[in-house]
Amino acid sequence: MRTQVGIIGAGPAGLLLSHLLHLRGISSVVLERRSREYVEQRVRAGVLEQGTVDTLVEAGVGRRLLREGLPHSGIELRYGGAGHRIPFEKLVPGRAITVYGQQEVVKDLIAARLADGGDVRFEVDDVAVHSLEEAPYITFGGERLDCDVIAGCDGFHGVSRPSVPEGVLTAYEREYPFAWLGVLARVAPSAEELIYAQTERGFALHSMRSPEVSRFYLQVPAGEELEAWPDERIWAELKTRLETVPGFTLATGEIFEKGITPLRSFVTEPMQYGRLFLAGDAAHIVPPTGAKGLNLAVADVRVLTEALDRFYADGSTALLDGYSAACLKRVWRAQHFSWWMTTLLHTFDSDDAYARRLQASHLDYVTSSEAAATTLAENYVGLPYE
Ligand code: FAD
Ligand code: PHB
Repeated sequence: MRTQVGIIGAGPAGLLLSHLLHLRGISSVVLERRSREYVEQRVRAGVLEQGTVDTLVEAGVGRRLLREGLPHSGIELRYGGAGHRIPFEKLVPGRAITVYGQQEVVKDLIAARLADGGDVRFEVDDVAVHSLEEAPYITFGGERLDCDVIAGCDGFHGVSRPSVPEGVLTAYEREYPFAWLGVLARVAPSAEELIYAQTERGFALHSMRSPEVSRFYLQVPAGEELEAWPDERIWAELKTRLETVPGFTLATGEIFEKGITPLRSFVTEPMQYGRLFLAGDAAHIVPPTGAKGLNLAVADVRVLTEALDRFYADGSTALLDGYSAACLKRVWRAQHFSWWMTTLLHTFDSDDAYARRLQASHLDYVTSSEAAATTLAENYVGLPYE
């Protein structure tokens, strides 16, 4: 079997790449180890940057997103007994974010790919990449897929990155001494906007998926087990961390989804080797506090699409050769922002009184200086595409 671009992974990166290539007349096959149901139900990100929304809409896969997505023109930082709004409409006019579940993006992309006759294969076993320097191919489940280029869109735990010969890639990494416990609850959001709450007991986030479904996260120690968090304990802790301003009551409801995600920062450089190009979480991870992971995956795929378009138009590898450098500028900006938001809002057990004073001072600065708030807003809504 042969295709132009062999894509490993049917997450947002792999599916969007396949769709964008199709729009340019470039063929691809997507190989995914999980079932379609599994990837369509996997609950993850929720915040789409302006540029991500624009990309999906321009690619013709934004109809439901425009109908059901929740546009937000600000977020609240809550600490020290008060809430402080970061008003995007004032600080970064014309730019906003949209709250729309990642699995909804994935459903829309799968539907579009299948409607266009795209080749997306689920539940494929034993995916392996070969001959990355030239004439690459992928083997899976006893079959062989020859291609011009392989796109490794298989997330942080995929097979693509570890297939690069040792010594070629450099990893830059940070682990955090905490994780996020995330839940979905059948209850109307208790506020119109996202609330990022910093407390002595740790960070909490109030988010949402729809007028009927709320999304919450709690900072918990790294390595924490879900069993330690029965629903009553989750609600009690969310109330303690979020009901810190006068007049705010957290509405509770049935919790129907729970998960724990470790927090990590990671970048591999370069993001390519021979005919293999890494995109999305396969190449980099950010802690979710800045809501950047999915958006970075979209940004990578845009760059890779342009580079492949050029390659197939006139045989030039100039853009492909520069793929990694073109992506890494945005990747490192998002790394810094995500690390910064994480340290601003979380409680580190190792913090002494001096570190806590610094954190409080920085929070005050960010919410009282228009210049500092603008920096936060500009990064949060996403830097424009060049
Ligand atoms: P993935 O979504 O991980 O997709 C990779 C795919 O490859 C998967 O389907 C996997 O099954 C498949 N795969 C893996 N190995 C193989 C193999 N060997 N063979 C075949 N297939 C394979 N980002 C944001 O932008 N905003 C947010 O608000 C946000 N919140 C988050 C909250 C949480 C709790 C978490 C966990 C993440 C959050 N993120 C957020 C990050 C975001 O979810 C990821 O960055 C995004 O999923 C990356 O997409 P991807 O396609 O690169 O990787
Ligand atoms: C989410 O709604 O899932 C969400 C929102 C903001 C974040 C991370 C996740 O920073």
